[in-house]
Formats: sequence, structure tokens, C-alpha cells
Amino acid sequence: MKTVISLSDLRTARLSLAETVGLVPTMGYLHEGHLSLIRRAKAECEHVVVSIFVNPTQFGANEDLSKYPRDLERDLSLIAPLGVELVWTPTSEIMYPKGYQTWVEVDTVTRPLEGSMRPTHFKGVTTVVAKLFNAIQPHKAYFGQKDAQQAAVIRQMTRDLNFPVDVIVCPTVREADGLAMSSRNKYLEGADRQAATVLFLALNAAKKAYEGGERDAEALRRKMKEVLESEPRVQMQYVSCADYDTLEELDVVKGKALLSMAVMLGKTRLIDNFVLE
Ligand code: PAF
Repeated sequence: MKTVISLSDLRTARLSLAETVGLVPTMGYLHEGHLSLIRRAKAECEHVVVSIFVNPTQFGANEDLSKYPRDLERDLSLIAPLGVELVWTPTSEIMYPKGYQTWVEVDTVTRPLEGSMRPTHFKGVTTVVAKLFNAIQPHKAYFGQKDAQQAAVIRQMTRDLNFPVDVIVCPTVREADGLAMSSRNKYLEGADRQAATVLFLALNAAKKAYEGGERDAEALRRKMKEVLESEPRVQMQYVSCADYDTLEELDVVKGKALLSMAVMLGKTRLIDNFVLE
């Protein structure tokens, strides 16, 4: 496994990789969710490239960029046994050199849900993912369903800008009690950690109602709210039952839909979702 930092070293290393290259973009502090993306990429591609870069432009002014967990040595030791060819760990100066002024912005699908709470977030995500696509030129790129809106936004960007990349969205990996894995779970302690399972319970309650025949989207949103409100430690930010691709709120669930939510638990922000097929 080769680890490179500079763009020119990345380009040289990339030249030796022919068909097919799978990219797993990450911000490091890897957990089982990331490792499942790498394993899937390894199963489907001849070569796997992992990028590790805590992208400053996707953090809002009052978000946790400086506190975002980092441990490159641990990340590399987790990746090493998985058969990854190349790891790119660029610095902020490499990705955004002095005088940087080019941005990639996706329109309506970035506005609701996460976009309504974090208005500059997706501009940072799409810009960095476009730069990763350009630099690494993968044939396939792997993202987690946990960040459902990110996946929808990246699918849209890839289509709109004609990137020759297959965007593959892989299932959310969960702890034994259902909590979706996230690098930010490390901030959850004691009673907050226990309370965090309420997101999974709320999603399950709505899914059960859906499986029982409920198609009224407001009734499904209400179900999720009721369960979240039963946990006093949780502060709800949004609860949604939306179209899977456009993320527009639904009146009635007909095709593929996304149940999703964001809450604050103490100082930690958690998101989760289920897809209704
Ligand atoms: O999902 C993430 O970890 C990040 O948003 C990504 C896709 C690596 C871009 O920085």
C-alpha cells in the first residue's frame, strides 16, 4: 500500500493503475462503515484508492472542524490489511492553495434537510468530491447511505457534469443497538450514547407503519416525531419523508422514498435514515 501526499505523486501512482479503479473518499477517523465501503470497492474493482482529507470547506463557521477527530496512523493500520493500493492524504494547501476561487454547486437537491441547517455544507462537499474525481479519475466511487442527501447530491453532480464515474451507495453500518456508525459517535457518552438509539427506533416505527400499509407521508413523519419526543435528551432538528432522488417532501408515498432525521443530543449532531423501496 502506497501513501502519497502531493498531487504529482498521486498522478504518478495513478498512472500505474489501469482498469478498474474504485475510490473511497473519506475524512479519516475510519470506522466499520468506511471499511465496508473499502471491502465493497475491493470486491468490485481491480484497484482501490482511499482518500483521507478533513475538508475544511464543508464545515460551517460554528461547526467542529478543529475538533474533528483525526488519527492517520490508526487509519492506515485499518486500511493496510484490506488490499488498498493507494492512499492519498492531501493537505488543505494542496486542495485549496492560496488564491483558490473555484466552486461546484448543485441547486435544488442541496436546499432541504441538511442544506436547510448547514447552508454552505454541500458546496464544500461537491467541490472537494469533484476535485477528487478529477485528480484520481476513478471508474467507481463509494459512498455510505448514512449520508443520504450527500449521496443524492453527488449522484446529481456526477450526472450534470458528465463525470465518467459510477456512484455506488452502500448500506449504513450500525452498532449492535442500531446506532448508525459515524466518526462523531465518539463524542457521545453515558446517557447520551444510550439515548442515541432513539433515531433507529423512530425510523423503525415509521417503517413498520409503512409495511403495515401506511402511505400518508405526514402520518409517517408524525410516527418518527412521537418516538423522538419520547426521549427528553433529544432536540429534534428535522424529520422528513421525501422523494428518494429529489428530496422533496411527499404527501403520499408512491415510489422510492427516504425517511430521514437530524437531532442534537447534547452537543453532538446525529443524522440517520431508512430507504422505503
Ligand atoms: O462523507 C464524507 O466523509 C465526506 O463528506 C466526503 C465525501 C469524504 C467529502 O469530504
